[in-house]
Amino acid sequence: MVKAKKIKIAQKKFLAKKIAKPKFKREIKPNLEAKGIKVSKTVPQVLRGFKDILPAEQKYWFLLRDKARIIAKDYGFTRIDLPLLEEASLFTRAVGKETDIVAKEMFSFFDRGNESVSLRPEATASVARAYINHGMLNLPQPVKLYYFGPMFRYDRPQSGRYRQFNQFGFESLGDMHPVLDAQTIIMTYNFFKELGLDVSIQINSIGCPLCRKEYKVQLVNYYKTQKADLCEDCKVRLVKNPMRLLDCKEEKCSAIKEDAPQIVDWLCEECKNHFVRVLEFLDELEISYNLNPHLVRGLDYYSKTVFEIWPAQTGTEIDKKSQNALGGGGRYDYLVEMLGGRPTPAVGASIGIERTILKLKELNIEVPEPEKFDIFVAQLGEAAKRKTLKLYESLRKEGFKIAECFSKDGLKNQLDIANKLAVKYTLILGQKELSEGTILLRDMEGGVQETVNYNKIVKEIKKRLEI
Ligand code: HAM
Repeated sequence: MVKAKKIKIAQKKFLAKKIAKPKFKREIKPNLEAKGIKVSKTVPQVLRGFKDILPAEQKYWFLLRDKARIIAKDYGFTRIDLPLLEEASLFTRAVGKETDIVAKEMFSFFDRGNESVSLRPEATASVARAYINHGMLNLPQPVKLYYFGPMFRYDRPQSGRYRQFNQFGFESLGDMHPVLDAQTIIMTYNFFKELGLDVSIQINSIGCPLCRKEYKVQLVNYYKTQKADLCEDCKVRLVKNPMRLLDCKEEKCSAIKEDAPQIVDWLCEECKNHFVRVLEFLDELEISYNLNPHLVRGLDYYSKTVFEIWPAQTGTEIDKKSQNALGGGGRYDYLVEMLGGRPTPAVGASIGIERTILKLKELNIEVPEPEKFDIFVAQLGEAAKRKTLKLYESLRKEGFKIAECFSKDGLKNQLDIANKLAVKYTLILGQKELSEGTILLRDMEGGVQETVNYNKIVKEIKKRLEI
């Protein structure tokens, strides 16, 4: 015991000596190479189409994550978190081989086990896979799930289009009632409305495989007459996936699309009734929508209802194009079965978070600042630093939001920081207070300072902050 104490004292003395008299000057720019550390000649850059979400931006993310969580709960959705990496074939089968997403935009590679895998370009396919994998058909239907997280598409980056972007999505699986389509649209619409964004709902029905078969014949016949004027991609689409012709964003193809036959004229009785009922539910809630005969969406799994949310036409010309859609979704009654599950009708939607943030910024919509600090603890001198370190821990455990800058010594420096953080109070502990068993309580608004008994400070702060 005595020996251990002696060693401790000796260690302290040794350390004190070391700290007090450094034997060498600290190098300003240490030569790392000389120390055997490799220094890169170039600074690493963030990949094209990817971005850092910096602290200043976080208030938008807090807001949207909260909004997503609350609205999902309101509408009865529970959270699911899905892997970012899946078998590549999941998306090839679900989203469709000939879609732009799969044919041109997937981040796919072979892993070390030679498996072909992809970073998820969207999450509906993963939800359907999880529904099958976890036997969710045995749960009360519909199973309502939501997700919030990053998706990856190797697209040409531009404003509002990234290679990594985030979606808030929600999916109802196991029920075919049109009221679910309407509710999905209403929920999507309300998400934006409640954020203060004016949006327009674009809606269409693309029928079922049965009515689409008839329609495709008409569509191909029409487009064949215009073949010479089509873009190269559309010439391929004409043979491989004619529905995608309506999805082309090329100017010359957009003009041709105007006179193309419209799917609504070819819907079978069941699909027509379903669509009419969806619209009736929207009418009931007096939610206006725009019937858009060219809306087919860029994913193959849809049937019947499809919709997109576009910014209301207050924005730029580019807003009017669907590539700037804030969100989109629809019914996908065959996806679970296509992936090997039981017949499971489903409907869902996803909202683009980055695009929503861009809109909030563009329209100068005020977003609450994340929670601020209540107090700042300042210290003067080594002994006070040690004591405030302890005080900080007890205040934190009491639930206060405390700021500090223990690495700074001067009071002015610390008060400047406290001011910048706009705290209500700063607690100051110096040599004098330490010896008297007190602490200074400074009201940052008026600059008034009071001496408070150190042991009563927590109670006093609680009273002042009405905690
Ligand atoms: P999507 O239309 O491909 O649908 O994407 C939904 C939303 O994600 C878009 O409206 C857009 O706001 C955002 N988004 C898409 N690509 C990008 C990008 N490169 N950069 C930034 N934002 C982007 C789906 O993903 C379906 N899974 C939606 C769904 C859910 N359907 C049924 N359930």
